[in-house]
Amino acid sequence: MYYSEDILDQVRTANDIVDVIGMDVPLRRSGSNYVGLCPFHNEKTPSFSVSRPKQMFYCFGCHRGGNVITFVEEYHNMGFTEAVNYLAQRAGIRLPEQEVSPAERRSMTERTKLLDVNRLAGTYYYYLLRSAAGKAGMEYLTSRGLSPDTMKSFALGFAPKTPSDGLYRYLKSKEVSDDLLRKSGLMNIDEKRGTMYDKFRNRVIFPILDPSGKIIGFGGRVMGDAKPKYLNSPETRIFDKSRNLYALHLARRSREDSMILCEGYMDVISMHQAGFTNAVASLGTALTPGHCSLLSRYTRKVILSYDSDQAGVHAAMRAIPMLRKAGITPKVLRLDPYKDPDELIQALGQDGMSERIRNAQNALMFEAEITKREYDLSDPDSRTRFFESVAARIAAFETQMERENYIDAICREYLVDRKQLQELVTRQLVAGSVRNGEASPGAGIRAGSLPSAASSHDPEYDPEYDPAALYGYEDGSFYEDEVTGEMLQPPPSASGRNRHATVREQGDDISRRLLLNYICRYPGIFPAVKQYVGPEDYGDGLTAEAARVIYSQMETRGSVEEASVLSHFPDTQDQAQIAGIFHTLDQASTEKDREKAVRETLVKVFSASPASSTADLGQAIRRKRQEKELRCVKIAL
Ligand code: GTP
Ligand code: MN
Repeated sequence: MYYSEDILDQVRTANDIVDVIGMDVPLRRSGSNYVGLCPFHNEKTPSFSVSRPKQMFYCFGCHRGGNVITFVEEYHNMGFTEAVNYLAQRAGIRLPEQEVSPAERRSMTERTKLLDVNRLAGTYYYYLLRSAAGKAGMEYLTSRGLSPDTMKSFALGFAPKTPSDGLYRYLKSKEVSDDLLRKSGLMNIDEKRGTMYDKFRNRVIFPILDPSGKIIGFGGRVMGDAKPKYLNSPETRIFDKSRNLYALHLARRSREDSMILCEGYMDVISMHQAGFTNAVASLGTALTPGHCSLLSRYTRKVILSYDSDQAGVHAAMRAIPMLRKAGITPKVLRLDPYKDPDELIQALGQDGMSERIRNAQNALMFEAEITKREYDLSDPDSRTRFFESVAARIAAFETQMERENYIDAICREYLVDRKQLQELVTRQLVAGSVRNGEASPGAGIRAGSLPSAASSHDPEYDPEYDPAALYGYEDGSFYEDEVTGEMLQPPPSASGRNRHATVREQGDDISRRLLLNYICRYPGIFPAVKQYVGPEDYGDGLTAEAARVIYSQMETRGSVEEASVLSHFPDTQDQAQIAGIFHTLDQASTEKDREKAVRETLVKVFSASPASSTADLGQAIRRKRQEKELRCVKIAL
């Protein structure tokens, strides 16, 4: 169901964001904003800010943001249509029955269509598990100890063995096109006959939901020992395995101050059933920095609960530095003698698991213990090398207090002289500063995706030429704009759609967002900016879509209305990214610095434009000349 821009405007203006959020979240006034404890992640000091003039909310801790519709979607776990209905009802507005112009239908993004196909498929599997055709699946899941309630809250389903095109036919009956089916990842394609049939057959189905509760993919498990044990949906436009976690939509509401990271779907389900509703897992892939930054939106503490076998230990050793880099303090849950959390819970129950969680091991002590296996501590040489390696890990911590604490802990555990270990750490610190931030084991504990991106080794990337990099933002910190008194934050890292982007491309995206932010904050610069940089100069990602909307608002009304820009993006993840654009702040403090920053950003976006890599020599020369001119142009704010 698609509503016209007019209707959406009407619903939004009739629902003041401060009133709507205020019903669910205690807010207090602070300057021109309202602040409160963020309902989307756990925190002790408020970083959730709601602006009445902008009709937007934004959390500086978990980077969620959007307009009043987004809030209702996220807070009440509703779909877009449902949220609009809810708000319309609240304001006594009658919505038109159906309003889909052909243009709107076309603009219904492929993402939205794919989400719809998954919703239908999820319903199909869900229904079958609970029907006669799903008997085998129901027996299997029951034999694994899952209750009907658990199966329901994970929306588990079943894909029968026959017919092999049951889902295909069901989706065809709902008028889903073959093209969309191909892109959905739910079908196998018989190249020879040019036909399609269901990918998942004779498996129990684990729908995979995004944080707002929409189905983005599926996992399917055989009901015995056949191989492959699991099939997962391939990555699609809506299914990005490195940016989603299994059960995150439930875990983020758990009100625990930590997350428990497991390896398998069954582990997560078993944990939730035992009351540990903060458990999540990656989606059949290794942990990525994307997962870590996703986790860091919700928590500062992660308890690694990987299998106790060699592969699990190895995966944990990999995960620890990655989590620290995202500003998370990892701990390690020891499962031995059990293989995985599911097995431990079957054996020791909820209490047994509680105790293991309470006793989760400090990650550095875990790293030391595992590293020790490679050395012979009775041999003096080997012993020294072991302590050197531990010292390197300790040196990677940012604060002296952390380093001192770890030195103490290691000395106690491994009976080494404190002064000796202290010296090894100091030597590592000196060596580290000589290497000037080059990667050493576990280095880069400092939080923040931006500084690490800027100091990376892409030969093409020149940080001196990037205003964003020059300001040296630290992630999570935010500033009060001394002019408007608004709370603002550093530019977000490159958009989710650019996850395969090189460092250079990410830098480009940051500059583009920064420029859009400048346009919104200083509308007076727009006439000068658009002479050099048009919407087509923003590439073709999410930022470019935002640019088109922002430029068109500038053209038609001379200013940007943030909340209505957001309504062009039905996807809540996209909305949060766009909201980030409006809450970005450079650290330039004087007017002159700001003008310089605007100009430098403009140059950067200009030269990163697809038009700058033209093969047409004449045009290339023209653009070079323009770029030169741009470097000296005067832009008053
Ligand atoms: P159970 O063995 O039923 O307890 O499942 P589990 O969820 O504990 O799985 P396991 O620990 O064996 O594997 C961890 C995760 O790796 C699974 O949840 C899947 O996401 C993934 N995985 C396991 N086996 C396969 C496989 O054969 N293919 C793919 N693509 N992924 C797999
Ligand atoms: Mn298992």
